[in-house]
Amino acid sequence: MRKKESSAIEKLDKITNLAIKRGFFWPTAEIYGGKAGFYSYGHLGKSVKNKFESLWRSHFIKEGENFYEIESSAILPEPVFVASGHLEHFNDPLIECKTCHFRFRADQLLEDQGIKTADMTIEEMSKVIMDKRLKCPKCNSWHLSEAKWFNMMFPVPLGAVGVKDMAYLTPETAQAAYLAFKREFEATRKRLPLGIAIIGKAFRNEISPRQLFFRLREFTQAELQIFFDPDELDKAEKWNEISRYKLILQPQGEKTQEISCNDAHKKIEIPQFYAYHMALVQKFYLEKLGIPKSKFRFRELGENERAFYNKIHWDIELDLETLGGFKEVAGIHYRTDHDLLGHEKHSKEKLHVFWNNKSFIPHVLELSFGVDRNVWALLDIFYKEELKNERTIFTFGKTIAPIDVAVFPLVSREGMPKKALEVYNMLKKETSLSCFYDETDSIGRRYRRQDEIGTPYCITIDSQTMKDGTVTIRERDSMKQKRVKIEKLKEELMKN
Ligand code: GLY
Repeated sequence: MRKKESSAIEKLDKITNLAIKRGFFWPTAEIYGGKAGFYSYGHLGKSVKNKFESLWRSHFIKEGENFYEIESSAILPEPVFVASGHLEHFNDPLIECKTCHFRFRADQLLEDQGIKTADMTIEEMSKVIMDKRLKCPKCNSWHLSEAKWFNMMFPVPLGAVGVKDMAYLTPETAQAAYLAFKREFEATRKRLPLGIAIIGKAFRNEISPRQLFFRLREFTQAELQIFFDPDELDKAEKWNEISRYKLILQPQGEKTQEISCNDAHKKIEIPQFYAYHMALVQKFYLEKLGIPKSKFRFRELGENERAFYNKIHWDIELDLETLGGFKEVAGIHYRTDHDLLGHEKHSKEKLHVFWNNKSFIPHVLELSFGVDRNVWALLDIFYKEELKNERTIFTFGKTIAPIDVAVFPLVSREGMPKKALEVYNMLKKETSLSCFYDETDSIGRRYRRQDEIGTPYCITIDSQTMKDGTVTIRERDSMKQKRVKIEKLKEELMKN
């Protein structure tokens, strides 16, 4: 194994072990051996996920003057997916081993051999597998079936009627937003652009779930559907604010480059409405989540790689050491009128609007984020080892750290635990900070335990506290301490 690969696996194992032990996540139904493609969040993971979702809401939903969040059912009736095209097109290429009957993805088999499949048809995949005499990953047999399409939706027969009343677990939150469009358009005074956001569960029956949070069978999406007039695709109201902002782009077949929104519009022909939202997304990653520039890029997808409903499709990719390089965490999709047109045709409900003196079906620009993938990306990117690997830290930004502040008595005597609990309860009740109290083990070990989960501040109550009412605040990254009066503590912590 190459050195880079083995250090990636080592880091992946370290983060996973730490995450399971400390309460970030673990395999669902772990006591029964778990089930591939399902993970549960413990208190720390759920806190990071909640914080990611709050940042997402405040960055993307508050951004739009006419943007709202809604909620919907995750089980939707079959006609929805006939109209959307998922029943016909939402497929992965499946191969079955004729010897051991193991089923796996043709594209994964090829990619594992370093063969790029992005532009291959299913017939081409079968041919390359045959020509290269690739074997079953489980039993090493050459006796493999041709690749066939496998639909990834989970069917849900409803009630006692069974297959006559078929529904599906939704494979994307987007469809629920399209179903809500007519009601929301009318309820919000019939204006475009209209943004409908959903943070909710999606389900995909992955053939072979892998890479932890990157191919889950049940996962959370944060998606914003922006309905707009297609004649305004090349306009952005706030274009002047971002026209000189530099996007990090990897266009099809080219190297990654930094290029202003203006040049992306003129030279790569990215429409202004689309480029504006690329800038918004890049700012979210670099400025709100604190992702280093070198680990971020937009990658343009070619025709065979794009989802069936997309006309323009750039993925947001982050460079993740644990997963061997840049991986998709989000996407910006120009879905045209594909979905609303399909729903109008199949439901017979008129989804045209009257706006800008004409009647038309709005087009959709979708910002789609896999929340769980982003949580894993944060763990990967902010994991650090220091002091010859004696100190492990998550250097999360303060808006993402699962615990904001830990409170300790220096020792468990001289009234220090009582005082420390008073400080802990005050912070818990009187601020929005998430707090943790700990009096076990030496103070050094307690600091290390908080570093290990990324807590930015630790407050210690010591003998001087008992004399003058001051405590120490220790900052995670610098490990520097300063003394502060208890009365000033809230102000001090909230200002950071
Ligand atoms: N809604 C787009 C996606 O699920 O990728």
